[in-house]
Amino acid sequence: MQIKSTLLSLSFLLLFSGNISAEEKVITINYPPDKSVREFTDASVSVSIPLSLVDRLHIKAENDVESDIIPDSRFECFDVPLVYGINTVEITAFKGNAELDSASINIFRRSDIESSYRKPPAGYKQDRFHFNNHRECAECHELNPKETDKKPVDLTTFSDLTEKDSSAIIRSVSTCYSCHNKITSYPFVHGPASVWSCLSCHNPDSVPRYNIPEGESEICFKCHIEQKKEWLSKKYIHGPVNIGKCALCHSPHSSINEFNLHKPTWELCTSCHADKKSGRHVLGGMYFEKGHPTKDKPDPLRKGKELTCASCHNPHASDYPKLWAMNAQGPFELCLKCHKKYYK
Ligand code: HEC
Ligand code: HEC
Ligand code: HEC
Ligand code: HEC
Ligand code: HEC
Ligand code: HEC
Ligand code: HEC
Ligand code: HEC
Repeated sequence: MQIKSTLLSLSFLLLFSGNISAEEKVITINYPPDKSVREFTDASVSVSIPLSLVDRLHIKAENDVESDIIPDSRFECFDVPLVYGINTVEITAFKGNAELDSASINIFRRSDIESSYRKPPAGYKQDRFHFNNHRECAECHELNPKETDKKPVDLTTFSDLTEKDSSAIIRSVSTCYSCHNKITSYPFVHGPASVWSCLSCHNPDSVPRYNIPEGESEICFKCHIEQKKEWLSKKYIHGPVNIGKCALCHSPHSSINEFNLHKPTWELCTSCHADKKSGRHVLGGMYFEKGHPTKDKPDPLRKGKELTCASCHNPHASDYPKLWAMNAQGPFELCLKCHKKYYK
């Protein structure tokens, strides 16, 4: 009883010192709506707080990702990394050590190459940010592209600049940068995204705005003309390429994997072809119980690279069935490319 009443008077004090009633919310999440669906590696969150009350925001995301923000504006914007499936993002507001309020949102990260995360659970839906007119953001962010957004930025002319300088340059020529700076922050950056030529693929006049129509390969082939000519003339085209879905495998922006792949090649291929993990299919299961290696060995033909599925299969197209790599015409010719010494 004693303890309880002390606690009560303490929180009473706190409420008064902070000038808020018990009813009032300290944290307002402006974006995204709860139960949104996202497909990519990060989600942008924007919250409002009364700056006079809050001196620290603590953010908690999945995988024990935690961070603190010292707010300097009544509007705070930040990014959180997403895992596949449901992500709960918890935001707690502090004054000193006193917890003032907490709020959370749930975001579902879906994926076409993760069979268990293809469909969002009931109640979750995609929200297209640019479909609505977010006037509440326009106070600090430019929401309409400028003329400079339509020209590619050539960073090579600024090659001596520090990272901070180049970010200032990008900021001055790209309206997308202030909100989307994370999108090019991974080590392998795709050419046009690295120079913030966002509108070379995203059309501001499309409905919904910036929408990429189904079958993005048409957009990709605008620049990758050689690949278009080569692949589309082949007899066999890999399923996902055939339906125009380059972005199933490649990030159009940036990635931690080379060729901007969403996953390292072996993991990428086996997320759709799980039955090929053992490598037994290579030898038809006949010679070797354990199958042919498909990873963790050096690729004898590609210096410095590991053996992967793409050592034997072309991920895009081939004139021969099973998409043999290196223009091999059949399995035996394929074996000989790497195993000359056995047969000579
Ligand atoms: C009071 C000013 C203000 C308002 C209003 C505002 N922002 Fe921001 N936002 C900022 C500032 C300052 C940054 C820091 C980014 C920078 O370097 O330009 C920022 C950064 C961001 C980022 C990048 C965060 C990161 O860490 O990568 C996103 C995303 C963002 N804002 C989204 C929004 C959205 C969505 C809204 C409207 C719901 C909004 N902002 C409203 C001031 C504001
Ligand atoms: C006020 C901040 C802000 C600015 C400026 C901004 N965006 Fe966004 N955009 C967002 C947020 C927030 C989302 C929601 C996705 C997320 O969490 O990142 C989004 C989503 C998108 C999407 C996915 C579809 C959608 O509508 O949700 C595309 C494409 C996109 N932005 C392109 C652009 C391009 C291109 C520019 C520059 C011409 C730009 N954005 C400028 C905040 C902004
Ligand atoms: C090479 C073409 C291309 C360029 C350049 C490009 N995008 Fe995209 N973007 C796409 C495609 C394709 C998708 C949809 C991917 C999908 O459907 O799987 C997409 C999706 C997005 C999304 C929604 C998903 C996400 O990642 O959160 C945002 C936001 C976005 N782009 C912003 C940008 C910004 C900002 C730039 C400039 C740095 C940019 N894009 C440059 C092709 C491009
Ligand atoms: C505006 C022109 C342009 C468009 C559109 C474009 N690309 Fe590219 N792409 C480039 C340039 C330039 C390079 C070479 C620079 C580099 O290595 O990033 C490149 C390189 C690549 C690479 C090789 C990266 C590497 O590490 O070797 C891949 C993969 C790729 N693009 C995929 C795509 C996909 C998928 C699309 C469609 C979503 C697309 N590109 C659309 C210009 C474009
Ligand atoms: C099934 C997954 C997958 C799809 C779909 C896919 N790619 Fe690739 N792509 C890869 C892999 C894996 C590599 C790396 C191959 C290697 O290791 O040699 C690659 C390499 C590339 C390269 C660089 C090497 C080269 O051959 O020029 C480009 C450019 C490229 N892809 C563009 C595209 C475009 C454009 C599309 C859509 C028409 C597309 N990719 C669809 C998996 C894919
Ligand atoms: C998004 C799912 C997806 C991914 C990722 C994927 N594939 Fe496929 N793959 C398919 C589909 C769909 C088919 C066509 C199925 C069929 O016709 O039996 C196919 C067919 C194939 C075939 C058989 C072609 C034939 O002529 O019989 C090979 C070989 C193949 N894929 C290799 C790969 C390799 C190597 C990778 C990684 C670079 C990969 N796949 C990644 C979906 C995928
Ligand atoms: C050392 C070469 C080699 C490697 C590495 C390799 N494969 Fe194969 N793959 C083959 C051969 C040979 C066949 C034909 C088997 C047959 O016809 O019985 C084949 C057939 C296939 C097929 C067509 C199967 C069918 O039923 O028609 C797919 C899909 C496939 N591989 C995917 C993969 C994936 C995914 C990986 C990586 C985990 C991979 N392969 C790694 C040599 C290889
Ligand atoms: C892209 C190169 C490549 C191709 C193509 C390839 N292999 Fe291999 N193979 C390897 C590598 C690498 C090893 C592992 C060698 C080691 O353990 O150091 C291996 C191992 C083997 C082994 C086990 C014996 C040994 O030396 O360890 C056999 C048997 C074998 N391959 C048969 C085949 C057959 C049959 C084919 C054609 C269907 C084939 N390989 C195609 C690269 C290849």
